[in-house]
Amino acid sequence: FQSTEGDCERAVLHAIDVGYRHIDTAYFYGNEAEVGVAVRKKIAEGVIKREDIFITTKLWCNFHEPERVEYACRKTLENIGLDYVDLYLIHWPFSYKYRGDNELIPKDANGEVELVDIDYLDTWGAMEKLVDLGLTKSIGVSNFNEEQLTRLLANCKIKPIHNQIEVHPALDQKKLIALCKKNGILVTAFSPLGRHNAQLRTPSFMYDGKVQTIADKYNKSIAQVLIRYVMELGTIPLPKSSNPKRIEENFNVFDFKLTAEDHAILDSYHNGERVAHARQAIKSKYYPFNVYSACF
Ligand code: A2P
Repeated sequence: FQSTEGDCERAVLHAIDVGYRHIDTAYFYGNEAEVGVAVRKKIAEGVIKREDIFITTKLWCNFHEPERVEYACRKTLENIGLDYVDLYLIHWPFSYKYRGDNELIPKDANGEVELVDIDYLDTWGAMEKLVDLGLTKSIGVSNFNEEQLTRLLANCKIKPIHNQIEVHPALDQKKLIALCKKNGILVTAFSPLGRHNAQLRTPSFMYDGKVQTIADKYNKSIAQVLIRYVMELGTIPLPKSSNPKRIEENFNVFDFKLTAEDHAILDSYHNGERVAHARQAIKSKYYPFNVYSACF
């Protein structure tokens, strides 16, 4: 997400060499093709086999009408250049009007995003068919709140196996993670570094002496501590970087463990603040972050 042209391919090539085997992309990110080129190169080089790598991608909000889901998935597979993906997610529970494959955020004459009320249960029915067709090995959701997940679980043939959500110290998601765990749903965590911005020096926990002290204790960086924290909350972290050194750093998190005291310090940054709030969709009845309890 947010990589500039060419960066994504270089990052994925390097990540696979370092040992990453789980690559997360999305139609919306516009980089499925670069991910595909890199993965296919590494398969051709014999570094990995197709079955060694787990590729997740996502259905964008303008393709939610059930009759458009298979079309969107096939388009994604064409972008990636593979016969199947491992996991296909509904990117957000709300929907946008379809105005062509490339108009990803359609707007009306007043500049407002054109929302449509397509029930995600209907979209899910079409997602289930993709598994039967062999286009994806499994299906899941992203940015679904507790109520939406519970409703989906009560009305599906195939259970979602993942919910991909934002997780970091300011948004620890303990309640939602617990609900997922109870229902056998794995949680993937995006923005474990709170979408670090070195120019703005945000988020505050990336620049905090208390977190630096924890990092120093293990001879690790703050980023490594945060990735470890998100893992120990019970999630699969998705740190993103296009920088080779940081790609290596973010992988080197398997040789230490945080204590309960470390957790208490990191927990203290929790204030429910999100980096991905999708405010443009706030008027949708399926907007996920109006439910207060779902955020905490
Ligand atoms: P870069 O691509 O230049 O490494 P998040 O995953 O929370 O959304 O954060 C992503 C941001 O954090 C990216 O801008 C990325 O920049 C930066 N980043 C990734 N890994 C590290 C790291 N180990 N230390 C500092 N910043 C990092």
